[in-house]
Amino acid sequence: MSQTPKQRGKFIVLEGIDGAGKSTHIDFIASTIRSAHRVEVLITREPGGTPLAEKIRELLLHEPMDVQTEVLLVAAGRRDHIQRSIGPALERGDWVLCDRFIDSTRAYQGGGGGVDLGWIDAVNEAACNGVLPDRVILFDLPAHVAAQRRGGRGGQEDRFEAQDVAYFERVRSVYLTQMRPGGQEKTVILNAELDVSRIQKELHKIIINL
Ligand code: TYD
Repeated sequence: MSQTPKQRGKFIVLEGIDGAGKSTHIDFIASTIRSAHRVEVLITREPGGTPLAEKIRELLLHEPMDVQTEVLLVAAGRRDHIQRSIGPALERGDWVLCDRFIDSTRAYQGGGGGVDLGWIDAVNEAACNGVLPDRVILFDLPAHVAAQRRGGRGGQEDRFEAQDVAYFERVRSVYLTQMRPGGQEKTVILNAELDVSRIQKELHKIIINL
């Protein structure tokens, strides 16, 4: 007897400036998806998600380099991540929950770093091979509020966290006003200034409708 092919899983991405609270909510999001949709969830992140891409992450966060090199490196890691991890998981019917993806490159390297967004889109297209998010949840808050939150965490800053408030306002602005073609309909914007329980209520609503 032939088996019915499994339905492809859904690809959910969390975006937002550093300090917006993605990491606070990622486990809640994964467990809500599991219970609402009865699926396995792969939690992963970018830059990173495979042994090769995690090595690239270390370089990107800590080695000085120009901003176009950042785009190319992050894209190389992304291709490996899709080929070895995200793609196979979606094919198995699992859902993928990824902390950052292509919109981070547009927002950080494009908005923050000033790289041409059209070029970033072309590089992303080459890296992604058609694998695109089904839903992006954007954690939005003003850059100065995010900076206060990050300041309270302590610890060593990476190359991006060390940027000033103006940089993060440019990053935020691309997320909010210069979404990639086709991205806007897939993106839901969450007010990340709300307290944790209010945000979880909002997330619950978003997730049951996925
Ligand atoms: P993140 O995992 O959110 O940092 P942390 O572990 O400190 O919470 O992301 C790491 C950094 O990588 C973040 O500052 C943004 C940056 N980044 C880019 O600049 N471009 C990209 O394409 C991606 C995916 C991340």
